[in-house]
Amino acid sequence: VEALAAFDGCALKKTATNLVFADGNPQARIMFVGEAPGADEDRAGKPFVGVSGQLLDRMLAWIGLDRARFYITNIVFWRPPGNRTPTSDEVAACLPFVVRHIELVAPAILIPVGGPASEALLHRGEGISKSHGRWYDYQTPGLAAPIPAMPIFHPAFLLRAPAQKRAAWRDLLSLEQKMGELGFS
Ligand code: URA
Repeated sequence: VEALAAFDGCALKKTATNLVFADGNPQARIMFVGEAPGADEDRAGKPFVGVSGQLLDRMLAWIGLDRARFYITNIVFWRPPGNRTPTSDEVAACLPFVVRHIELVAPAILIPVGGPASEALLHRGEGISKSHGRWYDYQTPGLAAPIPAMPIFHPAFLLRAPAQKRAAWRDLLSLEQKMGELGFS
């Protein structure tokens, strides 16, 4: 966190109020990685505390997860003005911190939340409508072994497209099944 707070390579820092790093339990075995802080997160200095975050929390409660049992962060640590999607430069500037963050936490399961997080971490080039609910290997030189990773729809998208909630539910059941296979449901 100190390294990030001292980092001036991301221009978003100038317009944001707070650095938004992470929430939940860093010892948890599941790590969620979203897109970027919104207005509520910028104010609170915590990820996923606004309406999207509340929906995500409710959805994860379906499979028995709360913030004591997962860890959550974003691919960008400062709020983009007006909640626009972060640019590829902004994502690229923050990515080394995100990768190091994942390596240090070394979760058993990694869940990119939404298209931009999925693309930044898994580079599938196929869009979230294809990649959601599929399991991939997340591997970096700093990890002892690949981490199973499954992208899910972003809750902000589900708020706009509630018909996709059925698919989101299936993806969460797949996550629950993976947790069972890994022996921690
Ligand atoms: N959406 C995100 O992707 N991240 C947050 O922290 C809040 C909303």
